[in-house]
Amino acid sequence: MKSKTVDIYYFSGTGNTFLISKMITDNLLKNRYNVNKFLLEKSKPEDVNLNHTIGLAVPVAYYSTYPFIWKFINNLPKTNGTDLFLISTCASTAGALALQIKKVAIAKGYNPIGAITFKMPLNLTQTQIKDTKLKRLIEKANIKAIHFVESLINDKAKWQYKTVFAYFFFIMLKLIGSLPIKLYRHLYELNVNDSKCTQCGICYQICPADTIRMYEFPRFEDNCEYCMRCFAHCPEQAIYFNNKTFLPFKSANIDDILSKKK
Ligand SMILES: Cc1cc2nc3c(=O)[nH]c(=O)nc-3n(C[C@H](O)[C@H](O)[C@H](O)COP(=O)(O)O)c2cc1C
Ligand code: SF4
Ligand code: SF4
Repeated sequence: MKSKTVDIYYFSGTGNTFLISKMITDNLLKNRYNVNKFLLEKSKPEDVNLNHTIGLAVPVAYYSTYPFIWKFINNLPKTNGTDLFLISTCASTAGALALQIKKVAIAKGYNPIGAITFKMPLNLTQTQIKDTKLKRLIEKANIKAIHFVESLINDKAKWQYKTVFAYFFFIMLKLIGSLPIKLYRHLYELNVNDSKCTQCGICYQICPADTIRMYEFPRFEDNCEYCMRCFAHCPEQAIYFNNKTFLPFKSANIDDILSKKK
């Protein structure tokens, strides 16, 4: 890495990517790097400091990532060799994400120094993940994070993806465009149970896609990206999914996720 300062732009709906970006941050700090963490959804791509190493930390969604994250990535400024790395979290397969981001990064003049995917619990879940499973995944991730940071520092990191899978998903996503998210919008409906809602406005404040309107009670517009933030972090569990009440998954508290502290 050319710069001793790393700016990590992260988004986390339910906590998984937050936990991983914290592991990466802690390891960079231990190795005497300066780390600034930014909430991706609140950041402007034009404000990115091209003299620092850029880290992107995002969840996989629809074998890629959320449209509001793509908006940030696609609007990053052109540069001449700024180092960029990618951390992603997924539940099973990262699909085309690393390949897609590598292509955009190279076209914009970034130096893609390393990409890694961490397996974490599925957050679109309708059952609670056992604490022991989460603990096991976190332990594994901790070791992976140490090695990834070491490889970044030693300029030995790789931009990892499973080539055949990645190209398959890359081509498929090119062909079908925004069909997956449209399908989700068709299949899954988020709603508010007004009798449980205390009108605290948290869901409205934390939605990264500006989908929630606050009337007397919150109401969803039709551009939800299913990041699961509102569902996971409503303090009253007043947001429900497809007319059923499921216990939402979360691996970190929203105050921690939104904190800019290292
Ligand atoms: C709408 C949606 C789509 C998802 N798509 C994928 C996917 O394509 N592949 C995968 O392995 N996991 C997928 N996941 C699971 C998430 O990537 C995974 O749980 C991630 O760690 C969540 O991160 P977060 O807690 O930081 O939001 C999806 C989750 C959601 C809510
Ligand atoms: S976070 Fe929950 S309780 Fe608060 S306004 Fe939204 S739905 Fe109502
Ligand atoms: S409405 Fe909820 S699930 Fe949809 S984008 Fe906003 S916070 Fe995410």
